[in-house]
Amino acid sequence: KIENHLRPQMLSDYIGQEKVKENLKIFIEAAKSRGESLDHVLFYGPPGLGKTTLAGIVANEMGVHLKVTSGPAIEKPGEIAAILNNLQEGDVLFIDEIHRLNRQVEEVLYPAMEDYAIDILVGKGQAARSIRLELPRFTLVGATTRAGMLTAPLRDRFGVVNRLNFYNSEELQTIIERSAEVLEIGIDPEGALEIARRSRGTPRLANRLLKRVRDFAQVKYDGQITLEIARDALNHLEVDTIGLDQTDRNLLKTMMETFEGRPVGLDTLAAAIGEDSGTIEDVYEPYLIQNGLIQRTPRGRVVTRSAYEHFHLPIPEDR
Ligand code: ADE
Repeated sequence: KIENHLRPQMLSDYIGQEKVKENLKIFIEAAKSRGESLDHVLFYGPPGLGKTTLAGIVANEMGVHLKVTSGPAIEKPGEIAAILNNLQEGDVLFIDEIHRLNRQVEEVLYPAMEDYAIDILVGKGQAARSIRLELPRFTLVGATTRAGMLTAPLRDRFGVVNRLNFYNSEELQTIIERSAEVLEIGIDPEGALEIARRSRGTPRLANRLLKRVRDFAQVKYDGQITLEIARDALNHLEVDTIGLDQTDRNLLKTMMETFEGRPVGLDTLAAAIGEDSGTIEDVYEPYLIQNGLIQRTPRGRVVTRSAYEHFHLPIPEDR
């Protein structure tokens, strides 16, 4: 089990991502009925949508152990070899941020994924030779924010590739109501929906906001989260009506004001707001694009008419 008790443990407790769930259910059932390990699975999409949770669910549904690591945590080929060698038959190895594996480590994974074997170099100089070490059958579950950042040979070795999408408000409302029950927080449906609407389509953020709104409900009010209390708390947290936070607003306003609505390159924008360009691309931009506030064009990022409308700013003639 992975740290957080809010995480659903089985597919039947998992809300949303219906297509992903439906497909996984079939692949899991098929592998189990053949008595085989599940084929390797890749999950990609913006952070906080449930990639780690699904890896845990895959292990639970298959009835195997889960071993969790991440791309940047594995520095040497020997380290990944040791991890693989310690797995038991059918186990799930979850590698988060798998696009950040270094080249030599990635090369150990190719035969491991394809043939359940690793080639180890023994001896030095003239006497050096490679020995093939058989591994137990296992399932690699990889997660990345962008599938395009994976090398082709790695991407091609995943039999199941799933894209995770932002959740709609109704799904997030259900997730918040479920979390509130687990945490024994009283919440009205309207309160849950208000938090949902401001959670940027992201369960991780919804659960975090739920806890902060609870703090307000407890200290300033009588504990039960209502629509009014949710609004008051979220306004204090500076999360706006569509879930934008200070960084989102700063980014959009910089595009509209400093750059006067002209197309702007990612690195220029990053420097202007003092954020890392990778973070803008992986964390902030996907939600803003999905909601039609910015567009990617060959000449750079462009703010849309909706962005001006959201901030009640005069709309330029070309929007
Ligand atoms: N908690 C976080 N994500 C969830 C999901 N998709 N379903 C149920 N609970 C969750």
